[in-house]
Amino acid sequence: MPLHPPAPLPEEARADLIARGYNRRDLGRIAAVFGLGAVAARAGTPAWAAPGAAASANMLHLDANECWTGPFAAGQEAARAMVARSNRYEPADEHDDFIREVARIEGVPFDWIAPWPGSSDPLCRAVVSFCSPTRGLVTGNPTFELAWRTAEWLGAPLKRVPLTADHRHDVRAMLAADPRAGVYYVCTPNNPTGTVTPLEDLAWLVANKPAGAKVLVDEAYIHWAGLPSAVALLKQHPDVMVLRTFSKMFGMAGMRMGFIMARPEVLAAMMRYDGGMQSGSLPLPSLACARASLSQGADIARRRAEMEAAREVGQRAARAKGLKLVEGSRANMFMIDWGGRTGKAMQDLFRAQGVEIGRSWDIWPGMSRITVGSMAEMEQFATVLGKIV
Ligand SMILES: Cc1ncc(COP(=O)(O)O)c(C=O)c1O
Repeated sequence: MPLHPPAPLPEEARADLIARGYNRRDLGRIAAVFGLGAVAARAGTPAWAAPGAAASANMLHLDANECWTGPFAAGQEAARAMVARSNRYEPADEHDDFIREVARIEGVPFDWIAPWPGSSDPLCRAVVSFCSPTRGLVTGNPTFELAWRTAEWLGAPLKRVPLTADHRHDVRAMLAADPRAGVYYVCTPNNPTGTVTPLEDLAWLVANKPAGAKVLVDEAYIHWAGLPSAVALLKQHPDVMVLRTFSKMFGMAGMRMGFIMARPEVLAAMMRYDGGMQSGSLPLPSLACARASLSQGADIARRRAEMEAAREVGQRAARAKGLKLVEGSRANMFMIDWGGRTGKAMQDLFRAQGVEIGRSWDIWPGMSRITVGSMAEMEQFATVLGKIV
């Protein structure tokens, strides 16, 4: 799903403010309230607001890396119970209860955890907080574009470094590309390849990066992989930040829950513009659902196994047609190389058959990202693939 170039303060909003008697200096302050406070909204259209984000009932959606099904039963039950008590801003201590549960499961102190409505905002905000015209952003390529869109919006130098031949982030090349960057962004498992960058590579980057630079590790897909988290590195080093979302494995994209783990002084630097207005605005049913979901180990393992089996069906169908894949995905997505046709052309062909597949990246225009759906959905994908190719 495409993200769009940022628009600082739309022209009609500027004209409206001036017509209402504000001067040009005021525009900056007002943009800060409506813009910087909601950095994600200004820096790039968030996933849920992008054109085409609304799932149409008669299409099979394999395009947005959502889960094919909703929250775990325990999460749904907790959310339902909370709806009935939502006349109060906070009937008990729900915000802190959520943080305490994350602290227990991840083994980090309470004040290293900040919940957010999704992870798009803290992702953009980390870039805004620690990059500048003199301290740039370094990312892999291809990777999730929101960080680099934010750097472009900021006017911060941006380096996009191709993945290694086995599709890890090339941490040595990333450091060499900008030895004075403000943020090194590593998405692992990576969107769109699903491939993992080992903790040893991340540890090398943390040990060799310039002083003060942040290593921002986006673990949106970590529960699909079931691999160790970069939280271990955060415990050792103050410049590591770890992002999580409930939009993927936990099936809560529409409930908007995520969190970031970082040292308190790092979190404070990220919050200084909004007084908690953005980060604190968490609907209680979402908080309750997320909290109850985190500890559902058996459900997590079952859903992971289900996804792996369905992924295998989709991948096997592509291989059977002689198509090459980006091998090694550990997440609910994989990339297909169409062997000469463009991803855009294939998207149109699939759409005509009722299947919405994912986008391509400019570095690999001949490949498309396919989100793994349920087993039945991947069988349908395989049938349509068989017709088209
Ligand atoms: C790697 C990665 N990070 C962050 C996000 C943001 O998701 P959300 O704002 O729903 O947490 C996404 C969404 O697709 C993603 O793929």
